[in-house]
Amino acid sequence: MLTSYRTKTRTAAFAALVAACMAAGAQAPTTLKDAYRGLFHIGAAINDAQSTGIDTRGDAILAAQFDSISPENALKWERIHPQPGTYAFDIPDQYVAFGEKHHMFIVGHCLVWHSQTPVWVFRDDKGDFVDRETLLMRMHDHISTLVGRYKGRIQSWDVVNEALNEDGTLRASPWLKIIGEDYIAKAFEYAHEADPNAQLNYNDYSLETEAKRKGALALIAKLKAQGVPVTTVGLQGHDSLAWPSLEDEDATISAFSKLGVKVAITELDINVLPNTMHQQTAEVSLKVQQDTKLNPYADGLPQSVQQELAQRYAGLFKVFLNHRDVVTRVTFWGVTDADSWLNNWPVRGRTSYPLLFDRNGQPKPAFQAVNQAAADIKSMK
Ligand code: G3I
Repeated sequence: MLTSYRTKTRTAAFAALVAACMAAGAQAPTTLKDAYRGLFHIGAAINDAQSTGIDTRGDAILAAQFDSISPENALKWERIHPQPGTYAFDIPDQYVAFGEKHHMFIVGHCLVWHSQTPVWVFRDDKGDFVDRETLLMRMHDHISTLVGRYKGRIQSWDVVNEALNEDGTLRASPWLKIIGEDYIAKAFEYAHEADPNAQLNYNDYSLETEAKRKGALALIAKLKAQGVPVTTVGLQGHDSLAWPSLEDEDATISAFSKLGVKVAITELDINVLPNTMHQQTAEVSLKVQQDTKLNPYADGLPQSVQQELAQRYAGLFKVFLNHRDVVTRVTFWGVTDADSWLNNWPVRGRTSYPLLFDRNGQPKPAFQAVNQAAADIKSMK
């Protein structure tokens, strides 16, 4: 029953798009994973409703279009390890099973982060900070339990997430304050020990801005020089129509590849809504008050912006494709626009349009633009 419903949904969505393209005289679309086969993985972050089979429409799109998945929230410390010694594996197990069923490249996100980590991790019974050895033990327990459980099944882990400030210095998180700078190296060593074959990523946002990129390059160079098993840098890619420039994207990928690491685009979305901040950031703790002026497309996206979004995606994918020797995957942060975190960040309740599939699960012009970028590269071979 479920299979036939999924197949029908997929077929209807594609029939509509094919008809629209034919009418416009364009080339018929292929699926994303077909278009990018042999180039790099093409992934999406999936939410709990998709991991558990409740969102059948989202699951149909995932199965048809993507060959990689990342867990949007289910593997974060506060969700999977909420209390000492208590692990919640139900949804993560379903997440991994979904990926295996569809023969996907499965990502684990994320092992060590300042955010979404329960207070108990850093504190003792009296509420004081624990000492370095205790925190290292807790980190080891967490990493070896998660990476060990999914050894050989989760192929890539975001080991350390967002350790840098916007100016490129190390963020003063409890990890840094209690353990010291080598908490990053330790996290990678523990992950490598638990699964020596897994790809191990340092993941961060806004690495295309000069100061933060410099800090990240210095960090990765130092880790590599120390023999720390970091294999990949994740450029999150929470982008906008104006940022980053294609030149900066290109220079950033080149700079990391020169350090001998691969590059993954791990959380791609393109925000078309007004920027409410003075800097380019994806810091989850930021909040901006609601204001209708900040939500200009509540009734739909104008065609002109829809086209601008498609062109922007085409430009970025050309850069990724030019670096296909080092880019291992490009993962979108969500399946449809309705799923995106950008509907609620930094302003709650906005109507956002950052992805390739609209609120009805229909492919947008940006979908066609991304597929075309791959077709163009393949036709040049
Ligand atoms: O599930 C609860 C729900 O029960 C509750 O009623 C509701 C009330 O606010 O909250 C729901 O949880 C929210 C969860 O998303 C699921 O929607 C959390 O409050 C909210 O904080 C959480 O936000 C996530 C955020 O990370 C913080 O973990 C976003 O979905 C997720 O997209 C975002 O992802 C991060 C990456 O992990 C790291 N890079 C930046 C990226 C975007 O912020």
